[in-house]
Amino acid sequence: MIVIFGSINMDLVARVQRIARPGETVLSRRADSFFGGKGANQAVAAARIGQGGPLRVAMVGAIGNDPFGEACLKNLEENGVDVGAIRVTDEPTGCAFITVDEAGENAITVASGANMALRSDDLPESLLSRASVLVLQMEVPIADSLEVAARARRSGVKVVWNFAPVPAVKERSAIAELLAVTDVLVVNEHEALAIAEIVGERSGDDYLKAGYDLSRSFGPTCIVTAGSRGAYAITPDGAQIHATARPIVPVDTTGAGDTFVGVLAHGLAEGLEIGQAMERACAAASLSCLTAGAQAGMPQRKALEHHLSQA
Ligand code: RIB
Ligand code: NA
Repeated sequence: MIVIFGSINMDLVARVQRIARPGETVLSRRADSFFGGKGANQAVAAARIGQGGPLRVAMVGAIGNDPFGEACLKNLEENGVDVGAIRVTDEPTGCAFITVDEAGENAITVASGANMALRSDDLPESLLSRASVLVLQMEVPIADSLEVAARARRSGVKVVWNFAPVPAVKERSAIAELLAVTDVLVVNEHEALAIAEIVGERSGDDYLKAGYDLSRSFGPTCIVTAGSRGAYAITPDGAQIHATARPIVPVDTTGAGDTFVGVLAHGLAEGLEIGQAMERACAAASLSCLTAGAQAGMPQRKALEHHLSQA
């Protein structure tokens, strides 16, 4: 089983010609709502790839007692995700305000709401004991995420940590602890440099060097996703693995990183080599960019296999 401990949001999305600068107003034709939240996105990505297979995906998260929360819960269920460990709180369901420009790039503000009420206790031991991979991100309380990760490590569960988004408060000790309990760190180029800087490794603008330094100093395998250039893994023994991405014309890149993480986690739980899991994750992430919204373009297993066979 794959357990995702993380955020659940409703995304309110406006398409704009270009993203507004501070103090500026830009017009958009309309707003659309999509299911989102890095945790929920990763859970849906993993569940779609696992469709028809033996691996279950469980989401541990917190929502509000409101229509957004109800809709988010139903969406996860419809995607085959176990929702037994999602708690309804007094806080409003998380909401992300997203603008997407003509190139498919985005800017996101997350109003966390219920996500910040998630606690380590929300992951029951009975669920953790059935997991082979635990997936975390940075949109729920970090102290509880660290606690959950430590519990997972003690139970021999592999910890995949997606360091996104970069936290506003950069506490070196917490981040060092995070790296020490992580088996596989997944970051984009910007996050790789940010996390290296927080823990005091100077990498300039070389994100691969950041990956090497983090891996050497703290022990995890570091995967750096690099958009159209695919993804690079640096393993603790200093080896580098590159997975390529096929060229696409993106409609909406929102959730591409989450698709990568969810599909990667599923591959690792299945026992794939990291390079193979990355190839699959890169392909799924590319496909996810072809449809508007974080989750709509995430492929099912069959569509992904078809895509990969056309290489
Ligand atoms: O990674 C994309 C996600 O980030 C969006 O779905 C939004 O909810 C934010 O959490
Ligand atoms: Na998309």
